Amino acid sequence: MQINYDFLENYTFKNKAITLRNHVIMAPTTLRSSLEDGTVTDNELNYYQIRAQGPAMIITEAAYVNELGRGWEGGISVADDDKIPGLRRLASAIQSGGAKAILQIFAAGRQTTRTILRGETPVSASNQPYPNGAFDVPRALTHDEIVQTIEDFANATKRAILAGFDGVELHGANLYLMQQFLSADSNQRDDIWGGTAEKRQRFGLTVTAKVAQVIEKYADRPFLLGYRQSPEEPMVPGITLEDSLQYAQRVADLPIDYLHLSLKDSFQLPFKNKQATKRVIDYYRQALPEGYPLMVAGLLKKPEQVEDLMDAGITFAALGRELIIEPNWVQKVFNNDELAIRYAISPADFDLLGIPKPLSEWLLTRFRNGFPVTTDALFDPKQPWRYYKNVVAKNTEPIDPTKLMTLKKQP
Ligand SMILES: Cc1cc2nc3c(=O)[nH]c(=O)nc-3n(C[C@H](O)[C@H](O)[C@H](O)COP(=O)(O)O)c2cc1C
Repeated sequence: MQINYDFLENYTFKNKAITLRNHVIMAPTTLRSSLEDGTVTDNELNYYQIRAQGPAMIITEAAYVNELGRGWEGGISVADDDKIPGLRRLASAIQSGGAKAILQIFAAGRQTTRTILRGETPVSASNQPYPNGAFDVPRALTHDEIVQTIEDFANATKRAILAGFDGVELHGANLYLMQQFLSADSNQRDDIWGGTAEKRQRFGLTVTAKVAQVIEKYADRPFLLGYRQSPEEPMVPGITLEDSLQYAQRVADLPIDYLHLSLKDSFQLPFKNKQATKRVIDYYRQALPEGYPLMVAGLLKKPEQVEDLMDAGITFAALGRELIIEPNWVQKVFNNDELAIRYAISPADFDLLGIPKPLSEWLLTRFRNGFPVTTDALFDPKQPWRYYKNVVAKNTEPIDPTKLMTLKKQP
């Protein structure tokens, strides 16, 4: 029996003549596979192309807008005009399958290291270190540098327009620079960029307004602007849901096309306010005008969950890990072939699924607990590192299953 999911319907943006073929979005996921200078590689093109047939829109991994904005090795750069040809190939690879191509743009702020910045000290709103000491202590940006950083976001947007993207998304989430300005934990300034909640909001709002102006002035076609936000952060004092709702209302007053919530679980309750009875998405739905385009990411896997999100009044469902595992998710739902959807991955399929080695390493280590890997004979889930070191990292040929079975027997 064919199920008529609402999320398979078209969607047309209110203020821009762009129609999406459905409500499923590929969430930004860093591949760490660009060249040392941030130039897009064929591995990245291949990865995106494999996933471009189903989702309505693909949001790329975060591309850094200036050199001090690099957050990790292998990140994509949009910091220089010489990156435009590579970015153009990236936009085309995404559009080749009918998906709209959105370039996520960001600066890492204090979530980076001197090594990644080739000896430069990371920069942030203040010189407050990242709480667990995972990164180098940043220095505070000067006023002039803040103004220049806003310009860098604007220039990155011009490059995205020239490269043929269908839009940009401002990465205001996941504790990167835009969020660092918002938070009383990382922003302890006492000039016009900090000191009160309103002043802490100034950086993000100015970036958004400036980028919207660039789009208005330079885009020769409908070009989307999205804003990604993390509704709460664990630090105290840090961003609370109340802060975020108030900020979201201010962001939504600017000419943006959607607001994107980065959540651990799309249906979670607020974690800071233990008395809260409603889900984070319900607070957002209430705080913003009816029908205002909201996108939500966090543990969405099954079609029923995506439909539940639509029922909760959320416009778009962004799938991260599930689209790494199952590039044909939308097609399988559309063709009434849900039983064939993969919810776990066999490392033997990494090549087939176009997953570059730096991403497979990341998923098998840092994300291992939240990344379902099959327990077939090819992989010992208790020893993902052994698999990575001995097989994936060394392997340039197609994986030989016999070798892997031997490997599993090793002590
Ligand atoms: C490997 C990996 C890389 C990610 N890179 C980014 C990124 O560049 N920008 C971003 O905003 N979020 C990034 N995220 C977060 C995802 O967009 C998403 O919010 C998160 O994975 C939760 O959704 P999921 O449960 O569907 O995976 C990344 C997540 C993963 C697993």
